[in-house]
Formats: sequence, structure tokens, C-alpha cells
Amino acid sequence: MKFITTATYEKLSRQAANIISAQVILKPDCVLGLATGSSPVGIYRQLIDWYRKGDIDFSRVTSVNLDEYVGLKGDHPQSYRYFMQQNLFDHVNIDPKNTYVPDGCAADFALECAAYDARIAGMGGIDLQLLGIGLDGHIGFNEPGDCFVKNTHVVELHESTIQANSRFFDSPDEVPRRAVTMGMISIMQAKKILLVANGPAKKEILTRAFEGPITPQIPASILQLHPDITVIYSEV
Ligand code: F6R
Repeated sequence: MKFITTATYEKLSRQAANIISAQVILKPDCVLGLATGSSPVGIYRQLIDWYRKGDIDFSRVTSVNLDEYVGLKGDHPQSYRYFMQQNLFDHVNIDPKNTYVPDGCAADFALECAAYDARIAGMGGIDLQLLGIGLDGHIGFNEPGDCFVKNTHVVELHESTIQANSRFFDSPDEVPRRAVTMGMISIMQAKKILLVANGPAKKEILTRAFEGPITPQIPASILQLHPDITVIYSEV
């Protein structure tokens, strides 16, 4: 595992964007696993900047996102599909039909989840998975529990996640209580993993996840078993 500490969020974003950019340059038809939340916003901004300068080409890239809130349609401003459109997809030349986000309004979630996993497997898996980490150690929306959940599944969000994510909504009551998330198999089978975390609030969970025991109570701790993971942490 490589652990990089940067002094600022701008430097974290630039270093992470460099790793993603290298992946796209080396394999133009790669599969990128993407995350939402506040941590990757600067990375996407940097990638857009390099795209505008002609330094990166997304035309052959496929993307698969980690998760989506149950009950939010893609045009809902707090949906993760909307986030991805606003923060990346609408500003680069990725082919819209090659961007996948779980459907939070699926009629049948068992089918949707199985289809999501089958789609990722059919792509040959993920080349580079970008992750953030929740204060409770979640990755994607794999919340702490008694076991690691292997496949894409619907999850009940923990109170701490609802509170943490309420900053994006008008009130905590509006935060959906359930989400659909990629499971651990697709994440752990990604050829490379890049996890980013910024700010002192994330320091303790990073230490517990990467220096403590591997336990489903801290879902990110499973990443200790991944052969090619880079963690970038910025102090501010
Ligand atoms: C979002 C996701 C989540 C976030 C995590 C950290 O797609 O998968 O696991 O990465 O909740 O969120 P931020 O970056 O907002 O602290």
C-alpha cells in the first residue's frame, strides 16, 4: 500500500487526478470506478481542466459509479447521477451511454443489483476504482456490519451517514434512508484502488482502517488485502 500525505486539498486533487489521467493515457478504453461526495470534487475539476487543455481524452472510457440513493431519480439535484453529470460527465467527452450509475428507482432491486454486477464483470472488471471513506469506515455505501457484503445490494444507511450527508440536503429528514451500492467483490477485484480523504476528521478512521484489524465493522479495512492501493490524505 502506498500512503501519500499532502499539505492541501488542491495537491491531493492534483495527485489523484494524475493517477487517473495516467490510467486513461495508458489504457484509453479503461473502466474507471467513480465515487461521489465532497472528496473527489477537486479531482474531477482538475480532470476537466486537463481535458479542456487537450491533455486527456475520455472518448473510449467506461465509468461505473459506486452507489446511488434509493428513491432519487437521475434528475434529482442530490442524486449521484446528477452529481456525476454536474461534476464530470457534462464537461468531458465521455460517451454518455458508457457511464453507469446504479438506478435508485429500479422497479426490481434484485434484478438491478445482479445486472450491475454482471455488467461490471462483462467489462472485464474495473481498472481503477476511486474511493472516498465515510467517518464510520464505509466505502461506497457498504456500512459497518457483521459481514462484508459481496455483491451490489440495497443498504439501510446508518444514522451517522445520514447526518454526515445531510449537509447536501435542506434537512436530515430529506436524506434517503436507503441506497444501492456496489459490493466488495467489484471493489476488491479492481486492478488498482485510489482512496482519497481530506481533513483532520478523516484521520482517525484512516488509521483504524489501515492499521487496525480487518473487520466488517470498518468496511474499508478490507482494502488492506488489496495488492495495489494508493491512499492520498490531505491534512486540510
Ligand atoms: C460516495 C461514496 C461514499 C463517500 C464517503 C465519503 O459515492 O461512495 O463512500 O466516498 O461517504 O464522502 P465525502 O467525500 O463527502 O466525505
